[in-house]
Amino acid sequence: MARTELVRTLLPPVTDFRPTVCTVDLAAIRHNVRALAPPRAQMMAVVKANGYGHGAEPVGRAALAAGATWLGVALVEEGIRLRDAGIGAPILVLTQFPPGSEGAALGAGLTPTVYTSEGLARLAAAAAGRSIGVHVKIDTGMHRVGLDPARALEFVADATRMGLEIEGLWTHFATSEELGDPFTGLQLERFADVVASLRGAGVRPRYLHAANSAAAMAVPASHFDIVRLGLAIYGLSPAAGLPGADALWPAMRWTSKVAAVRRLPGGERISYGLRYRLDRASTIATVPVGYADGYSRLLSETGEVLIGGRRRRIAGTVTMDQLMVDCGDDPVAEGNDVVLMGRQGDEEITAEELASRIGTATYEVVCQVSERVPRRYEDRDAE
Ligand SMILES: Cc1ncc(COP(=O)(O)O)c(C=O)c1O
Repeated sequence: MARTELVRTLLPPVTDFRPTVCTVDLAAIRHNVRALAPPRAQMMAVVKANGYGHGAEPVGRAALAAGATWLGVALVEEGIRLRDAGIGAPILVLTQFPPGSEGAALGAGLTPTVYTSEGLARLAAAAAGRSIGVHVKIDTGMHRVGLDPARALEFVADATRMGLEIEGLWTHFATSEELGDPFTGLQLERFADVVASLRGAGVRPRYLHAANSAAAMAVPASHFDIVRLGLAIYGLSPAAGLPGADALWPAMRWTSKVAAVRRLPGGERISYGLRYRLDRASTIATVPVGYADGYSRLLSETGEVLIGGRRRRIAGTVTMDQLMVDCGDDPVAEGNDVVLMGRQGDEEITAEELASRIGTATYEVVCQVSERVPRRYEDRDAE
């Protein structure tokens, strides 16, 4: 039995009327979580950036129902929102709590990541003697945030002296999407060295973690105690050729309906800048989706959508709220279904395809679908 629920985000009275919608298949999320479950490690579902555009709360719940035990977020605010929604699972904030947020973050029971002495001191002050488990992030080579491995022993000793418990130790890979890149192995070695030196000092964190989706799929030695999976739980592969990628189900489908149709003679030019010229008479369909919805304007030159089970080229510039499609001589009518991302009949436009057309990462394509597009949640009873 199919169950759908329209989640109102921005401008609730307006979005109800709109034919443009992102449908998120929660059964696909559960399937992906089960398909990716590592043999021995726990799974953290990374639901930052509103669950990579899919909706952090529904995705988080689906992932937890399918066996994930942790959620990961980038911001304290994201974690607090999940708590406000009633989610009680452990939530790791993947960056250090910003100054001033410590009280609220600890009050919400969020698990802190720490990697600077200032961050540690602020956290200890906010903890005020309560026993708080922290996860220390080690910079093994990505150089975004994290502690210099050479300072790990001293840092951990400081944390312990301040009454904090070293619950976790983690790192993040810079090149795991490039299969076989030796830098991943080097980062693993540096991480193992830190683990060994801490063990030598009698410190054994309960959770070691390093793997993102690509590493979890391609490098079993990176699994440790928890794998932190983002893109793959949404059914998208971070790189071509990853083992297990074929078993994933994309969870997001982006659709709309034809809002207007006109037959134009050859020679007519279309949209801002009149850059698209018809060689011959053609039927042009207008679709109410634009770059304000997160459909990149860069697709003006290269994009395709599906109507009637066929690929159709975008005719000219994608505008803020609408785009035009060249349907040639095919019969197309107002109200016809349009697929911007997802399957229609035998054809499919994937997030990966959209990303490669505009020279970006699949991550960005799904994160960019704006709040203006309502998310509809589709579920199926447990398979
Ligand atoms: C620290 C950290 N861990 C895990 C992930 C999940 O990565 P992926 O979506 O490639 O699985 C991310 C995402 O960027 C991250 O920043």
